[in-house]
Amino acid sequence: MTRNPTVALIVGSNRRQSLNRKLALALAKLGVDQFDFVPVQIDDLPMYNQDLESATPASVLRFKGEVRGADALLVVTPEHNRSLPAVLKNAIDWGSKPTSENVWKGKPAAITGTSPGAIGTAVGQQHLRQILGDIGCMVMGGEAYISFKPGLVDDDGIITQEATRVFLKAYLGQFAALLGKLVAR
Ligand code: FNR
Repeated sequence: MTRNPTVALIVGSNRRQSLNRKLALALAKLGVDQFDFVPVQIDDLPMYNQDLESATPASVLRFKGEVRGADALLVVTPEHNRSLPAVLKNAIDWGSKPTSENVWKGKPAAITGTSPGAIGTAVGQQHLRQILGDIGCMVMGGEAYISFKPGLVDDDGIITQEATRVFLKAYLGQFAALLGKLVAR
């Protein structure tokens, strides 16, 4: 029996009106036939502190369980000061420790992100790509930098600009093909 791969959907923003959450939900809609997306919350994790590892907070246990249980990851993130936002780095650090329980190891991952700026999170994504590679993720090749214009995602979670929709559908298709090779089903 074949099934769709489960994909942890991680948004690198804790802002209520996050553009990246809008894009992530639109991607979940666009890829609904190919993936079972599982939204993963990261904004309730405490600031990483190695002292807390001996009595791991409940939110961290939940978060690590959600990532561990997924076949793969889709990270949709803003760029903060030409890097990844602190809330996302914090989640990555929690998931990576202790090293013997690194939940990222061996996970296929695709990354994208959006900002109102012209280069659409390109530099932040490069940092993210390097970090995820370092902790054992298999980050898909290719680039998806999305410059956000008002109305790009409508109230129904549809990407309104056809060229962007087609591009992102192809990016998801590339990820689905990769997972078809890497995930046992
Ligand atoms: C930003 N923003 C931003 N944009 C960008 O394209 N490159 C950057 O380096 C930065 N740096 C940056 C730093 C900080 C601290 C903030 C708060 C913002 C703007 C950013 O793209 C914009 O706020 C987006 O709306 C953030 O995405 P979310 O949170 O709406 O998903």
